[in-house]
Amino acid sequence: MRVTFTVNGREESAEGVWEGESLLYVLRERLGLPGSKNACEQGECGSCTVYLDGVPVCSCLVAAGQAEGRQVRTVEGLAEGDRLDPVQEAFVECGAVQCGFCTPGLVVQAHDLLERVERPSDAEIREALAGNLCRCTGYEKILDAVRLAAARKAPGKETVA
Ligand code: FES
Ligand code: FES
Repeated sequence: MRVTFTVNGREESAEGVWEGESLLYVLRERLGLPGSKNACEQGECGSCTVYLDGVPVCSCLVAAGQAEGRQVRTVEGLAEGDRLDPVQEAFVECGAVQCGFCTPGLVVQAHDLLERVERPSDAEIREALAGNLCRCTGYEKILDAVRLAAARKAPGKETVA
C-alpha cells in the first residue's frame, strides 16, 4: 500500500508498505530519517519516540498506515536549519550522550515536557522520561541536560517543586 503523511513539515509518500510495517521502519528505511532508533521494537525503550500529531509515541508500535494524512515530527525536525533545539544543545553540552541510542527518543520526550511545563521539577522530569531507557549514562547527565534546557528556554522562571 501507499502511505502519505507530513514529516517535519514536508509531505512524504512511501510505496509498497506492508500492512504490519511500523512507522519507525518507514521513517528509517524508506524515507532516509535514521534519527529515531530501533532498539527493542516492542515499545519498551522509547528510543523510537516521535511526535504524531503533536503527541510523543513509540513509532515502533505505530503501523505506518495509521500515520496516513497525519503530522509526524522526528528528532531531525526539532532543529531549525543549522540551529539545534535548546534540548539538543543541552544534551551535547552536559555529556548526556554516550552511545546515543536512547538520545533521539529522550530529546523528543524532553522537548515535549518543556513545551508543556516551563520549569519542571526533578520529579516531573523523571516522570516524563520514565519510558525512555538508557544503558550508558546513569541518567544524571540527562537530568542535568533537561534542567539546563529548561533554564535557557524560560530564563528567570523558577522551578516549582
Ligand atoms: S524501539 Fe520502540 S520502544 Fe524500543
Ligand atoms: S547513551 Fe547509550 S543508551 Fe543512553
